[in-house]
Amino acid sequence: MARAPLMLILLFILAFACVNCSIANTKKIVGLYELKKGDYSLRITNWGATITSLILPDSKGNLADVVLGYDGIGPYINDTTYFGALVGRVANRIARGRFVLNGKPYRLFINNGNNSLHGGHRGFSKVIWTVKEKMDGDYPYITLYYHSFDGEQGFPGDLDVYVTYKISGPYELSVHMNATAIDKATPANLAQHTYWNLGGHNSGTILSNTVQIFASHITPVDASLIPTGQIAPVAGTPYDFLQPTTVGSHIKEVSGGGYDINYVLDGSPSPNGMRKVAAVRDGRSGRAVELWANQPGVQFYTANFLDNVKGKGGHVYGKHDALCLETQGFPDAVNHPNFPSQIVNPGEVYKHDMLFKFSF
Ligand SMILES: *[C@@H]1O[C@H](CO)[C@@H](O)[C@H](O)[C@H]1NC(C)=O
Ligand SMILES: *[C@@H]1O[C@H](CO)[C@@H](O)[C@H](O)[C@H]1NC(C)=O
Ligand SMILES: *[C@@H]1O[C@H](CO)[C@@H](O)[C@H](O)[C@H]1NC(C)=O
Repeated sequence: MARAPLMLILLFILAFACVNCSIANTKKIVGLYELKKGDYSLRITNWGATITSLILPDSKGNLADVVLGYDGIGPYINDTTYFGALVGRVANRIARGRFVLNGKPYRLFINNGNNSLHGGHRGFSKVIWTVKEKMDGDYPYITLYYHSFDGEQGFPGDLDVYVTYKISGPYELSVHMNATAIDKATPANLAQHTYWNLGGHNSGTILSNTVQIFASHITPVDASLIPTGQIAPVAGTPYDFLQPTTVGSHIKEVSGGGYDINYVLDGSPSPNGMRKVAAVRDGRSGRAVELWANQPGVQFYTANFLDNVKGKGGHVYGKHDALCLETQGFPDAVNHPNFPSQIVNPGEVYKHDMLFKFSF
């Protein structure tokens, strides 16, 4: 037990010494890796497969880091916000951390009231991933791998998980995730949990951002943020973002201090599996992003629980200082037969693709 903190300290020392270090010496060491194309760059750490920064120009050429996070890697270890993280094995909440699969009851680690959130106490955002490959060049990318073991946080079966972050075009970021069930059926639902503020991570709230979400329905939740099982229309409610709408215009009318809800995306995915999920524009800087993905839902979260978190450059983040657009399956799907299934059978592969197109 006493050895664990020492190990972590050692890892941090190595991590800080290692920006863009080569793959060979990084097998299970925490490092920070940069993907860069001209004035556009992002940094990723294999701690939680986390995006720690994404730097974008605006129309005047001013650069800003548009994701919330910390300086260095150390503070991510005890982080409770999931800044930039890749969450799993099952993102979002599972009611009472319980589900039954093929007649067998499973109990997960409870870490959010009476529920399991984002894979439990030590989900995929709180483990060291292996750097499989990193390439520079016209389309720089990094591939990270994690082997999740049978029984980890209560989930059934071994699961091989990959995520590739890639600069797939000018001012683009593609995220490809996959997970292969090895020996047992298991739910799998990964999500990328970056907190975006297109004005810059330290520019204040996103309440003046314009958001469009291509979804006519949401999955309403109870007081503990567990879906009731209904699929409710957004028409005539403060959840309606079908037309570009300022985040702050109706935020006071939603319970829970802001948006934290799964949208049921409209239409069917295009032949390549992708559909348009959302568009966000920051009027102050003129920066904008379009998000495409192959998932049935997107959790729209306006950082309602963010409170006095000391981040990059000593900046203190507060409520609504960012927004998250976490494409995923529907929350608690394992307990709702009317929601799209998240079960991956042995030999089957779960695939989740996202594409962010930035402009300014
Ligand atoms: C994380 O929290 C533990 C327990 O409170 C503490 O011992 C450790 O120093 C913290 N680590 C960092 C990097 O802050
Ligand atoms: C957890 O469940 C217990 C028993 O049903 C209940 O009394 C308690 O209020 C719940 N706690 C939360 C945080 O929802
Ligand atoms: C999962 O992704 C990795 C990295 O991109 C790739 O090498 C692998 O072939 C993929 N697995 C499947 C089953 O698609």
